Amino acid sequence: MAAYGRIPESFIDDVLLRTDIVDLIDSRVKLKKAGKNYSACCPFHREKSPSFTVSREKQFYYCFGCGASGNAVSFLMDYERKGFLDALNELAGRVGLDVPDTRDPDAAPRESQQPLYDLLETAAKYFEQQLRTNREREKAVGYFKKRGLTGAIAKLYRLGYSPPGWDNLLTALGNSEDSKKNLLATGLVVRNEQSNRIYDAMRDRVIFPIRDFRGRVIAFGGRVLTDEKPKYLNSPESPVFHKGQELYGLYEARMAPGKLERVIVVEGYMDVVALAQYGITNAVATLGTATSTTHVERLLRLVPEICFCFDGDEAGRKAAWRALESALPAMQDGKSASFLFLPAGEDPDSLVRKEGTARFQDRVQNEAEPLADFMFRHLGEGLNTESLEGRSRLTMLAKPLVATLPDGLYREMLLQRLAEFTRLELATLRAAVLDTPPIPATRSQAPAPRQTAPDEASGIPDYFTDTNDSQPQNGYGKRPRFEPRQRQGRQPYAPRVQTLGLPEQAVRLLLQDPKQASLTSSTELLALRLPEDCLLIELIRLLENSPGISTPALLGAWHGTELGDELTALAASEFLTPNVGVDLELRGVLGGLRLAAMEAELRECTDLETIQRLKKAIEALKQAPISH
Ligand code: UTP
Ligand code: MN
Repeated sequence: MAAYGRIPESFIDDVLLRTDIVDLIDSRVKLKKAGKNYSACCPFHREKSPSFTVSREKQFYYCFGCGASGNAVSFLMDYERKGFLDALNELAGRVGLDVPDTRDPDAAPRESQQPLYDLLETAAKYFEQQLRTNREREKAVGYFKKRGLTGAIAKLYRLGYSPPGWDNLLTALGNSEDSKKNLLATGLVVRNEQSNRIYDAMRDRVIFPIRDFRGRVIAFGGRVLTDEKPKYLNSPESPVFHKGQELYGLYEARMAPGKLERVIVVEGYMDVVALAQYGITNAVATLGTATSTTHVERLLRLVPEICFCFDGDEAGRKAAWRALESALPAMQDGKSASFLFLPAGEDPDSLVRKEGTARFQDRVQNEAEPLADFMFRHLGEGLNTESLEGRSRLTMLAKPLVATLPDGLYREMLLQRLAEFTRLELATLRAAVLDTPPIPATRSQAPAPRQTAPDEASGIPDYFTDTNDSQPQNGYGKRPRFEPRQRQGRQPYAPRVQTLGLPEQAVRLLLQDPKQASLTSSTELLALRLPEDCLLIELIRLLENSPGISTPALLGAWHGTELGDELTALAASEFLTPNVGVDLELRGVLGGLRLAAMEAELRECTDLETIQRLKKAIEALKQAPISH
């Protein structure tokens, strides 16, 4: 099969490496930390006590109850009934990558970023080591001490020192053309345009390595030890570092003991580290950039609550307002954001040292202003909301902001607040702000017109036959409009997809659990007189050639080919079989194929002895328990 039409495996790797499966699953199925792993009641089968486990380390989930298992792509495929490409697309979008257009034969496969990650890790180790061994180390250690940092916290955040001199790092790490190229790509080494010479970017600075949520070093911040400018140097954007997405301290916050319930967003590296030293381990900082909607979305997938913490001065208020504007589009139901303004002249680092942990926590807990309060207070500044003009002006100012919110209760709540301020009828206000005609009150009460499923009369629950609607049956937010009726009187593992022929059913089951390919072989299937070029035989051959391949990898490798498209279509159809039942169901389907082959043979047979033998064999097959 030509490479044309395939999604490069390195791209799938790249997406999976940047995705955190705990993050992904937790946004759909609330996870609880259980030792090193996370657990929940399994979303793929009904259960009362949690046997669904997610491992951050392995980036893998597994259910001890039903055997469902896989990676981030297969989770989305199964949970949201998405096709491979849709699932990959969604994951890629979350991490800011575009799925390469595989219809373009010139599309170059993406290079693996592993060498860059390796280099960054080596650099981090180098800086850590310099803090311990460099002859100028006392300068850096003294600086940290002066700032009140303990050795333990420095170790936890992997703080380091880049000694004075133009080529320390370059000499230590840049011993090949490749490593020089990579050092330049990370921005740790820069080129002088005039002399064309390359040299270390961070000189005589203490180093804060920036890690992604999985703990991989992706960039560095370096601070001068004096009052010189610029105070901080930060790594530039690179293939592995995107400032608009990453948050300093997020990895450490997630690794801290206890469940992360809320995240505090502060402005500086030092703030994060100082708060952690004082036991406030849930602070993160943006990387010298404004808070982006991506930042907020990312955090809100992880925790229901964000507290933005800003200086009490004018710059702080401006930054807070920008953060509010970025946060609005991410404000889903059940999430909340608040704003804490610190006394003038203080930042979290100075304040926690001055006031202590409890007082700082108290500020976050009790003195932070809820988003809606801050929003209306800010908008109402200088307006007389007692006057008609003032109230109309408030509506005008709020309109573009409210319009950026996703549809839902959170937006309704903001509208309600706005209605109180403006004394407008809620329906009128909603229509004016959202530019939609007011909804007559009666309609919103009436149930939505029900679409009658064609199979309703046959007693097949409508979600069995619904092929257009790929909405999750048990996702948060997107609940099915009608609870599926209980399955009744069904054989637990009898083939359920009436519209598929036996070979297609087998394909679907194999896509759900490719390991089961060992139940048959291409030789057997050919002997059963399945056509040479049928999908089932092609799939079995593929699995015979790549044993152990996962469904996402399989679909990825074959994406864009005719076979891949057919497989993807089948994979996207609902998996109604619990994983633990795949084995039994596939045995049943294969039994059906064997039976059909024998019956066909019987019809053509004229030899009495063979007819007897076939009849016996058919009887035996019909009698046999399905399990072998
Ligand atoms: P701050 O000036 O508040 O820094 O800038 P800080 O973290 O409190 O540092 P100390 O206490 O003075 O040591 C907040 C953040 O803005 C970015 C950094 O990310 C910093 O942590 N920044 C600031 C820069 O990128 N470059 C600068 O020159 C200054
Ligand atoms: Mn500071």
